[in-house]
Amino acid sequence: MNEKNNQKSGNHQNSEVKKKTRSLLIAGNWKMYKDHKDAYVIATALKEKLADISTIRIVLCPPFTSLQSVGQAIEGSSLLLGAQDVHWEREGAFTGEISAQMLLALGCKYVIVGHSERRHLFHESNKIVNLKLKAVLKEGPLPILCVGETLQERERGKTEEVMEDQLKGAFEDLTPEDIGKIVLAYEPVWAIGTGKTATPKQANDVHLFIRRKLEEKYGPEMAAKMNILYGGSVKPENAKDLLKEQEIDGALVGGASLEVDSFEKIVRSGVDL
Ligand code: PGA
Repeated sequence: MNEKNNQKSGNHQNSEVKKKTRSLLIAGNWKMYKDHKDAYVIATALKEKLADISTIRIVLCPPFTSLQSVGQAIEGSSLLLGAQDVHWEREGAFTGEISAQMLLALGCKYVIVGHSERRHLFHESNKIVNLKLKAVLKEGPLPILCVGETLQERERGKTEEVMEDQLKGAFEDLTPEDIGKIVLAYEPVWAIGTGKTATPKQANDVHLFIRRKLEEKYGPEMAAKMNILYGGSVKPENAKDLLKEQEIDGALVGGASLEVDSFEKIVRSGVDL
């Protein structure tokens, strides 16, 4: 199905009338910001501010060096710890790398895999993303797998092709059971850190496309359960409109997750949807 047809066919639904069918997950990707001390302060504040929220899974993904302090800060709360990347081997001579098992030992419940910054700045191929997914699914935290097209790919009408290609590459040799454990994040590269958000409709259309592809391959039950987050310049001002969309099951938030107030507002916009 091409993108134009998809849009024309009226798939965009007015979600005002519907309740969400999947519970939301909102993750903060702190990227290479916040040392272990600053991270502790922010995570402690978030733990207090978000203490009343029980219906949304909230995940904090600080840099590796801040995982332990954030883990300590959020202990006893419903906030969850996540990492931003992982190596595919369990252990060995891989200078600078961190394994899934190490993340698990620190209390990580989630790990981001295949973020576009990893793909583009660190040349991570679909093959590497696949190796990481396999390692994580074997004995690690749950993966948040990122997919997304560049501006050039979007302008050339290739968004759906890129989605299919990235999903196919990432899922190679995975069992449907494993795939069912993955959280997906659609993050158009052109919207990351640029202030340019995909419109709710643009995002919803791609999410719907992804869900249909999952349905074709793995059946309606699995597709219906899969959490598909949106990421790319999510802010307090646009979060609600994005999260209201039927196919958007949460957000992966970069810049706006570094400030307690803005992250709190984003999370609160997902309450009662
Ligand atoms: P952004 O980043 O919210 O700063 O655009 C999102 C991400 O990279 O996950």
